[in-house]
Amino acid sequence: MTQEEARRQISALSRQLHEHNYKYYVLSQPVISDYDFDQKLKQLEALEKQFPELADPNSPTRRVGGQINKEFTQVRHRYPMLSLGNTYSREEVRDFIERIRKHISEEVEFVCELKYDGVAIGMRYESGRLTQSVTRGDGETGDEVTDNVKTIHSVPLQLHGNSWPEDIEIRGEVLMPHTSFEHLNRLKAQNDEMPFANPRNAASGSLKMLDSAEVAKRRLTCMVYFVLGEALPHDNHYDNLMAARQWGLNVSDHIRRCKTIDEIFDYINHWDTARTTLDFDIDGVVIKVNSYRQQQQLGFTAKSPRWAIAYKFKAQRETTRLLSIDYQVGRTGAITPVANLEPVLLAGSTVKRATLHNADIMQELDVRIGDSVFVEKGGEVIPKIVGVDLANRPAEAQPTEFINTCPECGTALVRQPGEVAHYCPNEDHCPPQIKGKLEHFISRRAMDIDSLGEGKIELLYEKGLVENAADLYALNYDKLFGLEKVYPAEGDRKERIVSFQKRATEKILQGLEASKAVPFQRVLFALGIRYVGETVARKLAEHFGSMQALMEADYDALVAVHEIGERIAGSVLEWFTRPEHQELVSRLKEYGLQMEMEKRAAAQSQKLAGKSFVVSGTFAHFSRDGIKEAIQANGGRNISAISGNTDYVVAGENMGPTKFAKAEKLGIKIISEEDFMKMIE
Ligand code: IVH
Repeated sequence: MTQEEARRQISALSRQLHEHNYKYYVLSQPVISDYDFDQKLKQLEALEKQFPELADPNSPTRRVGGQINKEFTQVRHRYPMLSLGNTYSREEVRDFIERIRKHISEEVEFVCELKYDGVAIGMRYESGRLTQSVTRGDGETGDEVTDNVKTIHSVPLQLHGNSWPEDIEIRGEVLMPHTSFEHLNRLKAQNDEMPFANPRNAASGSLKMLDSAEVAKRRLTCMVYFVLGEALPHDNHYDNLMAARQWGLNVSDHIRRCKTIDEIFDYINHWDTARTTLDFDIDGVVIKVNSYRQQQQLGFTAKSPRWAIAYKFKAQRETTRLLSIDYQVGRTGAITPVANLEPVLLAGSTVKRATLHNADIMQELDVRIGDSVFVEKGGEVIPKIVGVDLANRPAEAQPTEFINTCPECGTALVRQPGEVAHYCPNEDHCPPQIKGKLEHFISRRAMDIDSLGEGKIELLYEKGLVENAADLYALNYDKLFGLEKVYPAEGDRKERIVSFQKRATEKILQGLEASKAVPFQRVLFALGIRYVGETVARKLAEHFGSMQALMEADYDALVAVHEIGERIAGSVLEWFTRPEHQELVSRLKEYGLQMEMEKRAAAQSQKLAGKSFVVSGTFAHFSRDGIKEAIQANGGRNISAISGNTDYVVAGENMGPTKFAKAEKLGIKIISEEDFMKMIE
């Protein structure tokens, strides 16, 4: 292909991909299948690889990130990023409107918008191309996070049409949708990491990550609320926002022009309740004067414009009585104080319990049993106590002392310097920690023994059959068969019967047997060493190659591993010095679990000779490249697209539905990762 041809193809593909991306992420109206989109993206990637001189920094291929920043450059805003005056009072909204009407003799039109609860961003477009994205910072200067913003699919890298001004700045809010937030926190919990308290913190934390490929995984979105520049097409805010929508920017459908106070209050009232239907958080509505000329007449105070105000919704809050405080022990030993409350109706559901977070917050609130407390449901899912009605404190109420010993096992609690939570250090003998560790051990991303769910682990523990992971491998048919327990209904939970009949017992034993093939890095992750999540486990496994070598590593050897810091090194060292852990590892080794990285050469064969494979989705035992290598090492052939010549599709998690349909239509065998492993066994 000549360079000219490549240029033409790259340009056509980029245009199409930008357009499809917009239809999918901004309009939510995709017109091609995921499969076709992926094919086009792959074509473009291949062309860019072949002709690197033609690759564009705003290419659709940039959405996946990969640019790594060492630190962010500080950039001065061309137009300072001001904040809005805000109020929780409808009276003050009325005053705001009347004050404006007094100042402006002609009719005033207002624009009502949602107040997005995320992180502000300023995006500069020059000649229609996104050239710079800067966070708010202190309002004067912010961090340049352009590479990260390019991974947000609802942000166009190239504006549509050609009616945009040469140089404009678009302001908006970066948000993490609820669905992304829940997904992220689930992953964090699995990896023993602190979950984010709310979507705003998650969005802000994500936008400040240095590796843009990681940001791409966070599935952020961006809503636009402001257009700035010298040569805007219209003389008012609303029309410019609508123009921005034509340029491909993500402007909400819920923007309204209002002329009367009643219309404004209708808008406020509607969104005060309808906000629960959105997939992102809003914390109020913003009311702006529409005309730029009138805006200019009104001017600014030191911090904010006089032509706009934010009406903030009150967090939904109720008052109730604090009956008692429980202390819950999590699977990592972290203690959470939980308030038992006189039941109260809050935001549509009855609340009986609320979190008190930790000892510091409890002390700050000075909560006492018998107090009237304020309970709120904010962006967080779990209700929380936010204050005490001191005027109603019973005379006999005593100050609350945080517990010193674990409510489950009696061990003295510890609190590490710099950490807010108290921990029970008795990780191997404290019941919820034992059960939590076992549940983690069998979980899908660890040893993947799905025949042993949560209820079964609980029963095995209660019957005294297992105390640690190695005990699982000492189970046999006779010990398991016939075990049964009825768990009565409790709170929101229905009655459950856990019972080990013939089939269940056999499946458990098979699951345990199969787990002996799980690769070393996942065995290491399964041990549940604090701070050793999936990624850290993989790094340690790859670096040291075996459990033996890792156990022999000293502090210097550990911190020499890329991205392993003192906190992780300390935790690993501490874990392996305990004799009970050494014994656990040696028993697991005796039972036949993988204690070394797999040796590639051992896997070679000609079992797949003459067969062609398409690999799709993500896998539990292999990376995508790993599975392709295994295909090759066993004589098979990898092909990138499904066609009549494909013999097998190896389907992992998240395989696109269109690929699936295509394979089915062509009658190609779709096999799971497990099927594949059996083929090369
Ligand atoms: S307009 C000069 N509109 O609220 C005023 N801001 O306190 C420019 N925000 O930093 C802001 N939704 O991050 C505006 N519809 C909206 C908004 C909005 C959320 C945020 C924004 C700003 C803060 C103002």
